[in-house]
Order: sequence, then C-alpha cells, then structure tokens
Amino acid sequence: MALWGGRFEENVAEATQEFGASLPVDRTLYKQDIAGSKAHAAMLAAQGIISADDEQAIRAGLEGIEADIDAGRFVFDINDEDIHMAIESELTRRIGEAGARLHTGRSRNDQVATDTRLAAKALARDLMEANLRLRRTIVDAARAAGDTVLPGMTHLQHAQPVRFAHHLLAYAWMFARDFDRVHAAFDAADANPLGAAALAGTSYPLDRQMTARALGFSRVIENSLDAVSDRDFLLDLEYACAVMAVHLSRLAEEIVLWSSQEFGFITLSDAFSTGSSIMPQKKNPDFAELIRGKTGRVEGDLVQLLTTLKGLPLAYNKDMQEDKEGALDAAHTLLASLGVMTGMVGTWTVNAPRMREVMHRGHLAATDVADYLAKRGMPFREAHAVVGRLVLEAEKAGVDIAELPFEAFQAASELFEPDITAALDIDGVVAARTTQGGTAPEAVAAQLALVEQGLQESADQLAALSPVVAMGQGA
Ligand code: ARG
Repeated sequence: MALWGGRFEENVAEATQEFGASLPVDRTLYKQDIAGSKAHAAMLAAQGIISADDEQAIRAGLEGIEADIDAGRFVFDINDEDIHMAIESELTRRIGEAGARLHTGRSRNDQVATDTRLAAKALARDLMEANLRLRRTIVDAARAAGDTVLPGMTHLQHAQPVRFAHHLLAYAWMFARDFDRVHAAFDAADANPLGAAALAGTSYPLDRQMTARALGFSRVIENSLDAVSDRDFLLDLEYACAVMAVHLSRLAEEIVLWSSQEFGFITLSDAFSTGSSIMPQKKNPDFAELIRGKTGRVEGDLVQLLTTLKGLPLAYNKDMQEDKEGALDAAHTLLASLGVMTGMVGTWTVNAPRMREVMHRGHLAATDVADYLAKRGMPFREAHAVVGRLVLEAEKAGVDIAELPFEAFQAASELFEPDITAALDIDGVVAARTTQGGTAPEAVAAQLALVEQGLQESADQLAALSPVVAMGQGA
C-alpha cells in the first residue's frame, strides 16, 4: 500500500500505478528532494516540533540514501510513485519512526514545488555559464576577424558590405539578451514554497525563513496557494530556452549556408563535421543542422507547459506533474546545443579571400552611389531611380555596378565626377558607415568594447547568484 494508503481498501490498479508515477522523471531531482527534507527536518527540530535525536537520525539517513543514489546503488521502485515517496519510504525502512516524523507540517505539494524550484535554479545557472562561454567564443572570433568583410544580406540577397566582426557581434548581443532572460527565470524560481504544506499553510509553528536560508532561496512565497500552484518560473525558464534556441538555430542556419560550396565562407573543423556512408567526398555540417532541428523540441516544451497550465483551478492539480519533463528536456537540450555551438565556432576556419571574392557580385555599392548623388543635391528618390537604371545596365552587360566605365555614370547624371570610384570601393563603403552601431572600423571597435563590458557584467551577475543545489548525476 502507498504511503497515503490509510483510507483505501485496495491498491491502485497495476496499470494506473505506472501511469500515475512521475518517478522516471523526478528521480533526477533526488539531490533537491534530499536538501529540502534536511532543511525541513532541521527547522522542525529548531522549532521543537521533532526531537534533536530524530533530526540527527533523519539527516544521517538522508545522507546515506544520497550517497547510495550518487553511487548508482539505489534501486528505485515504480510503486513509490515519485521521488518524494521513494526517499521517504526508504528513510523509514532505514531509521524507523524518526523517518515517519519527517513529513510533519509538509505536503508533497510544497515539497515538489521546492524541488522543482531548486532544480530550475541549478539549470538556469548552468545555462548562464554555457551562454557566457559561447559569447566569449563569439567575441574571440569577432576579434580574430579583423578587417574581413562579407556581403551583408537582406532576403538572402547581397545588400551592403559589412565587417564579419560586425555580423558576429550581432549574435553576441542576441545571446547577451538570452543571458538576461535566463537570469530573470533564475530570480523567478528563487523563492521558498516550503511551509505552504498542501495549500493553506499549517498549524505547526514552522519557520519558513529558516528553510529559505538553508536552501539558498532569497525570499519566501507570501501566499500558500500561489506557492503550490505557481509554475511561472518554469514558463520563464522554458521561454528563455526557446528564444535562445531560436538564436542558436539562426546561427546554425548561417553555418550550414556558409560551409556550403555555394558560399564557401567557412570550413568547419573535422571534429564538428560528419561524412557520408556512400559519398566519399562529403563533409556535412550535421551538428549545425541538429542544433537547428532541436529548436523544435525546445519550443514544443514551452507550448506543452503553457497548455497544461491554462485550465487549472487553484491549487495543486495532478496535471502539474507534467511540468518537469519538458522543462528538464528544454534545459538539457539547450545546454548540449550551446556546448556544441561553442566548439563549432571556436574551431572553424574563416575563408576571408572567398568572402572578398563575392563582394563583386550583387552591386553592393549601389546605395552609396545613390547617396553620392543625393549628397550633391539630387533628391534621394530620383537618385535611387538613376542608380536603378545603372544597375539594369550592368546586369545586361553581365558586370557589377563597380565595373561600369566612368562614361556610363556620366551619361546617367552630370553630377557624377571621377571621384565616384571612391564611392564604389568596398572598403570605402564599409568605412563610411560610422553611425553608432554601424559597420565602420571605429564603430565596430566601440561596439566590441561594449560587448566585452557586457561579458564582464554577466560574469559578475553569475558570481552573485544565490546558492544552488546542483543536479545529481546518480539517478
Ligand atoms: N509527483 C507529484 C508531481 O510531480 C508530486 C506532488 C503530488 N501531490 C499529490 N497530492 N498528488 O507533481
């Protein structure tokens, strides 16, 4: 009979035992569950609710169980339903009556909320660390890019030239925002639900501040109903994961394109490529594709939890047991993707001459030619039309606008003078974009300094996080 079996005459049907169990998922939260129980027992003793001897026996018993799970020696039984029951029933088997006093003034409802919040904090911290490693690698790649330029694109068509460093730093900003989103999710999880008991609080004189301190929570949740039914912190974490996964996926897509024969902008290291079982020449960007592919899973995890929560009345409902699998999956999937992306970016080879070679296609200087006319008094709209005709002429001749003879420019407008060649020079075009946030060398250097400052701020925030209970590896 289950630990709650007192008012039942029969066991649950075999089939429902497995259906109702969350043990296959929540067993990975054993360290959080044990930390929660130790904190609860210490507080019960401090408040005179259980004896000091009982507390000592509980603590020693829990530490023994933890060591066994860490070592892979613990045999889990699906009949225990979840990690809370598995550990409590084993504790009572080991230490007897003291174990049976542990659940005083507690419910699995505040217990699972505690475990899940502790796990969310641990995963959020891991994600912040992995995010920071990727950002450092991207910044290193941007620094290494030097003066390299490539065709900036809109609609995947050549648009205007940009520095490769500038392009990479766009990703650094995206991932910096992701760090902040995960940090916010960490803060959302960083509150103690313990002491809410089943839903209404308890008649025991519990010290909720004491368990908060012991578990590293920065505050106590003020409403017991909210404490057991709030899963916003998981939504926050999964949303942060989903957005970061989208950013990884966009970068992965560029890597797939850039490493193709058509682009040839980068070569992935062998360590981050795969071959074909039939085509001997192939070197495929499988891992970039897989990062792109895994994004669908992470997005699905978020949508699943939103949907699971939407119709639930207060307070705890068993539906909420479905909260952990997706959240763990999202975080673990993203952690793996971040690690692989960091390795891929850190080891690729950039083919700068190839980037330079394709700059002569797609009339990348066209906007600057129109600007040349506008700066000499022609209304921009008119200048746009004049240059459009020049582009058409170049297209018909099968050349780039920069390759047209000076006579062609003269014929198009008398405002063109021989110095138009400067406006057509790709490095000149890049150097002219000095706007704050633009692609000129000094603008990119200023941006790089800001990005590095952001890395330092993130590192400081990481160091200042409240303590976490790291995920166990034994279950
Ligand atoms: N296994 C449950 C979960 O994951 C724990 C809480 C169950 N509480 C209850 N009264 N059924 O959410």
